Amino acid sequence: MTASVPRHLSLNQTVQRTHAFETMRVEGTLPPDLCGTLFRTGPGVRERFGRPIPHAFEADGVMSAVRFGGGEAQGAVQIVRSQGYLEEEQAGRPLYSTAASWLDRGRAAVSGRGKATGNTTMWQWQGQLFALMEGLGPVQIAADTLDTLGETDLGGVVPQAFSAHPHYLPQRKAAFNFGCRYGREMQIDLFVLPDAGPAQRLTTVTVEHNSMVHDFVVTDTHLLLLVCPAQLQSVRALLGIGSLDTWFRWAPEAGTIAIAVPIDDPDRAQRFTLPPFWFWHTGNAWSEDGVLGADLSWYPDSASLAGIGSDDRPTAAAPALHRCSLDLRTGHWEHHPLHSLPIDFPHVHPSVFGRPHRTTFAAAQLSTPEHIGIVRLDDGDATLWTVEAHEQASEPVLVPRSDAEDDVWVLTLVHDDRVDRSCIAVLDGQHLDHGPVARVWFDQPLPLTFHGTWKPS
Ligand SMILES: [Fe+2]
Repeated sequence: MTASVPRHLSLNQTVQRTHAFETMRVEGTLPPDLCGTLFRTGPGVRERFGRPIPHAFEADGVMSAVRFGGGEAQGAVQIVRSQGYLEEEQAGRPLYSTAASWLDRGRAAVSGRGKATGNTTMWQWQGQLFALMEGLGPVQIAADTLDTLGETDLGGVVPQAFSAHPHYLPQRKAAFNFGCRYGREMQIDLFVLPDAGPAQRLTTVTVEHNSMVHDFVVTDTHLLLLVCPAQLQSVRALLGIGSLDTWFRWAPEAGTIAIAVPIDDPDRAQRFTLPPFWFWHTGNAWSEDGVLGADLSWYPDSASLAGIGSDDRPTAAAPALHRCSLDLRTGHWEHHPLHSLPIDFPHVHPSVFGRPHRTTFAAAQLSTPEHIGIVRLDDGDATLWTVEAHEQASEPVLVPRSDAEDDVWVLTLVHDDRVDRSCIAVLDGQHLDHGPVARVWFDQPLPLTFHGTWKPS
């Protein structure tokens, strides 16, 4: 293969081999202070029992873990073996996704059961590790083996869904999350996950339309739900007609519904109708004098949903990192791009989450939507790790070295088309443009993952 015809890994891949922790080949020199484990997950089973899984969001999660320490690295790869996955293994056929037969889809719809695929992110809470997806509850995972321990409602607190984007607020020593329940109208549960003590449901808000809500905004005073007008077509979804992206209709006339929930007085939520837009991710958010601010990976509409995990990528607008603000006194909404680069998967140093920041790390599209490098934005200035044409990076995960915003190691899963293998690239956040200080290699191409987490040792 020549580098001029990059094949690029997509989410439309099934993992080739699962394995326990084994030694990985290290290229370069691993930093001595990089000690801990990187956990990632993503849709990694795109075919089961000879049937393709139509959309990446329906695929079972494949987790990877890479332990760093002493200049060495060990890696493990395992499938999220949820209850639904095990039932399918037993039955010898798909039971829950749109790859299932009409009869099995009907059974799943009548029973109200689904499969918690854990295919979107890994999350840590109170020393436990979970694989998350947005449609159902957490799946607990053993951090030392990646074995699936089972599904949990966090002590009876999660009635149905727990999104894949919990955000941790250091000033409140708690994470916050939400989950959407679809029905005649949509109920959105908001959760508090404190460092100590039980999980709690903060409140539940209702929205007239069932919509996809992927992430939300967490500031030190308010939780802000932005319900974009990607409305669920209930009959299609219930019967599993078509692939998952066709279950949602872009309805710009409905606008984006903003619901601002005061953390300390959650029953006094404020509602606003904003112009229609779509966003996948929140980089950071803050609250100043009655104005909520947030950096969002902003899109004009939800067309990008159809392109996720598809080799037939439809035309969709490129992402852009927008700085947004909502004045809670007047409802005034503003947003503007922070940079012209197409950017998504934004992250800030964890110590500044929930308050204003200067530095953001993110994944940036370079020559094509599949040619992805890593960017650091310092206010308006961009510093890039420009990967080669045969390489494709993914979301950056930050490992703080100190409280300085750019003083981090940046870990990203990279696929190299030349050798058809994946590696974790380790970059110095202060010298991104120097390229990786080290790479640790899997012996196979890993399906591209969405999100990950770092557990220090
Ligand atoms: Fe996400």
